[in-house]
Amino acid sequence: MTDAERERVAMFYAETYDDSVQDWPGEIDYYTDVAAQMRVSPASILELGCGTGRVLMRLAANAGSAVGLDSSPQMLEVARRKSTGLNNVRWIEGDMRAFDLGEEFGLVLIPGHAFQHLNTVDDQLRCLQCVRRHLLPNGRLLVHVDHQDIAWLAGITGREAGQFEARGRFTRLQNGHEIQSYRAWSYEPSSQTAVSEARWEELDADGEVVDAWQTARVRLHCVFRFEMEHLLARAGFAVEALYGDFHRGPLADDSSDMIWVASRAAAPGWRRTVRARSLLGAQQLAEADPAGWVSTAACLARQQAIHLGRVARFRRAA
Ligand SMILES: C[S@@+](CC[C@H](N)C(=O)[O-])C[C@H]1O[C@@H](n2cnc3c(N)ncnc32)[C@H](O)[C@@H]1O
Repeated sequence: MTDAERERVAMFYAETYDDSVQDWPGEIDYYTDVAAQMRVSPASILELGCGTGRVLMRLAANAGSAVGLDSSPQMLEVARRKSTGLNNVRWIEGDMRAFDLGEEFGLVLIPGHAFQHLNTVDDQLRCLQCVRRHLLPNGRLLVHVDHQDIAWLAGITGREAGQFEARGRFTRLQNGHEIQSYRAWSYEPSSQTAVSEARWEELDADGEVVDAWQTARVRLHCVFRFEMEHLLARAGFAVEALYGDFHRGPLADDSSDMIWVASRAAAPGWRRTVRARSLLGAQQLAEADPAGWVSTAACLARQQAIHLGRVARFRRAA
């Protein structure tokens, strides 16, 4: 695909994104509610993979400041056009795996499965670590990803790429024409990757195809529940909640979505400090009195338990 064709397809995708994508049931109300409950009010909000601002635009009215970051200049062009007159919104072209905005936010959102564009553990961790650096100490991270449907994934496994199937129609608001969309999916189990190609045909009033667009292959990582839990923990987050829908229903076998709510875990530094101090002390005492090693270790373990109890009480009170 030439650069010019890639640009043409990206612009079409951006311009018709809002026409073709529907909100998830309860999605915007849920985000609005979480933003309203933040301790610092009005909340400052950062959305990663914000696209055309489908979500952020509707939270901005009640936000202190709202920043949308996306790697697609075409999506951001649409977002900027839509938000003329909203003074507290900024749109930033950037990569959610590597950004430094020099500020912290009360709420960081990664809605609409945007996190699934990150295809390696390294990419996912880099993104989450960036988020952690941009989150206020009592801030929240919300990540919305698919809950994997094994039966569907099995059905598209091993498929020849390029088997397009009709997916549905929507109206292109720009000119009122119908757009027929097609998708081709395949799944690579070893890398948990769903590979997708999209094709759109624009139909005139007689149903004749007057234009068409086709994307290159897009690779989407299929995140599984405990994988996400481990990722968040490795990146220094504590999971506050996991929902299977935007009405805060529990994750069930047939849930189609996972909504993760996380906050910054207490800095792992305090654990290391306690452990390092204990070990250093134990080593010094053991060197001075090798025979007393066992009782020294027991004594230090007790001191550490008392210290951890104090820390836990302090954290509960905070
Ligand atoms: C499916 S769209 C979701 C848009 C928006 N969050 C929504 O829910 O409507 C995914 C978005 O993620 C963006 N994206 C993909 N990889 C990205 C990256 N590494 N950094 C920033 N944005 C990225 C894409 O450009 C696209 O706009």
